[in-house]
Amino acid sequence: MNTFKSVAELRRRVSEWRSQGQRVGFVPTMGNLHAGHFALVELARQHSDKVVASIFVNPTQFGPNEDYARYPRTPDSDIAGLAAKGCDALLLPSVEEMYPFGTIGCVQMHVPGITDILDGAHRPGHFNGVAQVVARLFNMVQPDASVFGRKDYQQLQVIRYMATEMSFPIEIVPAPTLREPDGLAMSSRNQYLQGDERQTATFIYQTLCFMREQRGHGFPIDAIEAEAEQRLTMAGFSVDYAEIRRSDLMRAKSPEEPGLLALIAARLGRTRLIDNLEFDSA
Ligand code: PAF
Repeated sequence: MNTFKSVAELRRRVSEWRSQGQRVGFVPTMGNLHAGHFALVELARQHSDKVVASIFVNPTQFGPNEDYARYPRTPDSDIAGLAAKGCDALLLPSVEEMYPFGTIGCVQMHVPGITDILDGAHRPGHFNGVAQVVARLFNMVQPDASVFGRKDYQQLQVIRYMATEMSFPIEIVPAPTLREPDGLAMSSRNQYLQGDERQTATFIYQTLCFMREQRGHGFPIDAIEAEAEQRLTMAGFSVDYAEIRRSDLMRAKSPEEPGLLALIAARLGRTRLIDNLEFDSA
């Protein structure tokens, strides 16, 4: 695997591949890679001949009181893991390369509507930062396909919208959520969990399953959401939301609608966890 700090050099390599008729898949990450990320690389491989990953902890998607400074950075093990997974190239851009005019004076991106609800309501500006960096990464790498995890369901929807709206000729490939044996969705932030919090964290997935089950019994959506929030609070979480939405993340009118999913964001101590469960998937 070749590691590129310079975008120009990576682009040369990618255009060589493409001129040979090879399809290029892309996996953007913020590093601190775990099995969930490596599954994204494997999926990218299924959709392309060459796989490029990037590691960039993007400052513009973190709020002023969020974990940008303490976000785990583990470049050596990340590089070894990507190489072992057969990734072909890694882009490691600096903040200066990503934002040559700084993060204040740079071109901004605002994806209306979908960035203001759910996580967007609790992390103002977060998804605009995500859309901004992903658009830049798409321009830098120029892939044919790019893989995003369903665990960050709202992020996936924002990126789909942005890519369509900006006419990026890139197939957006969603990847299933990988879970620990006890159901906890894999996330770099799980390592913030202290002591008993790790065990308590499994309650998020249990609550998502409870919401799916209640929906199966035809209970009203408001009642399911209120019960889920109460259960999480009793278990020690501070709940940002526990909601049932349509696949486009708009509010569902009835529990009978097809394509519904439950989404939860909740804090346990200093750790904010998110997860979701699509009711009609396996
Ligand atoms: O999901 C992530 O790791 C990040 O939000 C992404 C897509 C790499 C953008 O910084």
